[in-house]
Amino acid sequence: MKRARKPYLAKEEFYTFFKQIPKAELHLHLEAVISRQTICRFYQRRHPDATAEQADTAITEMFTYSDLNGFIQAYLEVQDLYEDPSDFDYVFADLADYLVRNGICYAEVFAAPSAFIKKGWDFSELIDTYHRNVLKIKEETGIDVRLLIDVSRTFGFENAEKNLQLLLAYRIPEIIGIGLGGSEQKGPAKLFGNVFDKARKNGLVTVAHAGEDAGSESIWDSINILHAARIGHGTSAALDEELMQTLAKRKIPLEVCPTSNVFTQKYVKSISEHPIRTFFDKGIVVTLNSDDPLFFGAELLDEYWNMYSQTGFKLKELKQIIHNSFDASFLDEDKKRSFNELVIKKWKKEKI
Ligand code: HPA
Ligand code: ZN
Repeated sequence: MKRARKPYLAKEEFYTFFKQIPKAELHLHLEAVISRQTICRFYQRRHPDATAEQADTAITEMFTYSDLNGFIQAYLEVQDLYEDPSDFDYVFADLADYLVRNGICYAEVFAAPSAFIKKGWDFSELIDTYHRNVLKIKEETGIDVRLLIDVSRTFGFENAEKNLQLLLAYRIPEIIGIGLGGSEQKGPAKLFGNVFDKARKNGLVTVAHAGEDAGSESIWDSINILHAARIGHGTSAALDEELMQTLAKRKIPLEVCPTSNVFTQKYVKSISEHPIRTFFDKGIVVTLNSDDPLFFGAELLDEYWNMYSQTGFKLKELKQIIHNSFDASFLDEDKKRSFNELVIKKWKKEKI
């Protein structure tokens, strides 16, 4: 007997179904999961005479950019509105809402302390806020969050070294490693080799954004010089066959963030032309992520929907990407297995 074909899910059914499947998100920036309401609160505190409407207009203006450096500028302008470490209590509350809304059961989240260290904040207080809030999210929602400190390409290697030194001095188990975000043009990978080596020698994991705003050589350097365990974005790998073969063979996962790439415009002009399909077909371990949900207006469920409705990914391929999200994480093998089993169970229960 011929098996019935899997149905094509309408948008609402798709969201309902994918929300209840446990997922991991591995590329998400804490300061970009802030809600508009929280930014408004911070803005009006800084400008007590501004009406809600004026605050809203100013925030919309801040959010106008068309490339990565423009986005980073806006990202820093928002961070400039924070006044002390306890402001992160609001941001973590926004993170918790985001994770629940998208059916995410495990997240590795970038936190970027550079701008706050520059403001003269007490690092131990900042770490304390991270620590307290990660525990609070676990207690209130059952969701596990682990942090990766973005030592940043934007401010140079001395700043990155300082970030690492502070991190090692105020160590907490919830911070599992470092990442390299920020301006790929201003901060080439070769500047950060020593910082990455030192982090690994001290038991931290290391990942790097690369190939988001620079060519495939930036990804090669992140693999060969930084020895990054995963690559954030990796978009320009699509222009380098040998690199795609290497990523597939060495099982170096890509944290793909499609909507972010369309916004920053460097290698991808629309979701439907995103090379994620090529990466997947070549056997690269791809994961799907939202990167900066508030800034780019897409959350994790939207990214899954975009793949389904605009790039031809089938349901069972998206299921594989969900499994990849656990397999490519820094969870231990037992936890990976139990989350993967849960995915299979929930998927079957819904008979899709
Ligand atoms: N790219 C680089 N740096 C970042 C990003 C990003 O998408 N988001 C926050 N910092
Ligand atoms: Zn990012």
